[in-house]
Amino acid sequence: MTEAKITLAVLISGSGRTLKNFIDLATEGELPADIRLVVSSTTNAAGLRFAEEAGIKTRVVCRGDFAAGVAGDKEFGDAIFDACREAGVDYVAMAGFMKLAPLPDDFAGRVVNIHPALIPAFCGKGMYGDRVHQAVLDAGVKVTGCTVHFVDNEYDAGPIIWQQPVPVFDDDTAESLGKRVFEVEKEAYPHVLKMLVAGRVKLEGRRVTIAKAARGERSRAGAYPDE
Ligand code: GAR
Repeated sequence: MTEAKITLAVLISGSGRTLKNFIDLATEGELPADIRLVVSSTTNAAGLRFAEEAGIKTRVVCRGDFAAGVAGDKEFGDAIFDACREAGVDYVAMAGFMKLAPLPDDFAGRVVNIHPALIPAFCGKGMYGDRVHQAVLDAGVKVTGCTVHFVDNEYDAGPIIWQQPVPVFDDDTAESLGKRVFEVEKEAYPHVLKMLVAGRVKLEGRRVTIAKAARGERSRAGAYPDE
């Protein structure tokens, strides 16, 4: 039986490490994903080259090309999601995408994001990359992590699908902590995509529940508490 693939558009703004991880895992047969489109919010996102190298269609949609304010936000979001619609994807994965792109109704529950902290801590507008890790260090917390969540129309506020903790060490810098968190992100995000395509993720209000893996379903056995 051929394995179902998740059809995906990936939204990026920067280095594209998350996109590269998806592409590598899909190429190795470790992630059943058909990445049909990469949308960047800037022409100089380094990650665009990973899409080009992999032969994935790309689009650049810059927030600055639309008016300021709420109406411009909506037009920006519409331009992005029109491209996703055209590409015929089931899901959209934000991967270091730094802009607010309001969702049209038909994409509700079909857009996911990863944030490099345990939401609702250390998140919101302006919280990305090393700023998040520096805020974690400044607050003196001992545990941080990553969160994969459904996207709604606010920054980092949608229903949480999956979280994984990462310890904070006394001698951490934002850079060392960021590296440790990213290693965990590289497992957590693909894991969520696999659960989505397997139909195991159920969203009710703010709560997400995960059905147990079916017998024989390919997974990283033992690595996660639900398996
Ligand atoms: C990841 O660490 C992700 O959690 C973070 O950007 C990095 C991915 O970007 N996202 C955020 O901070 C969103 N608020 P990259 O794939 O371009 O390196």
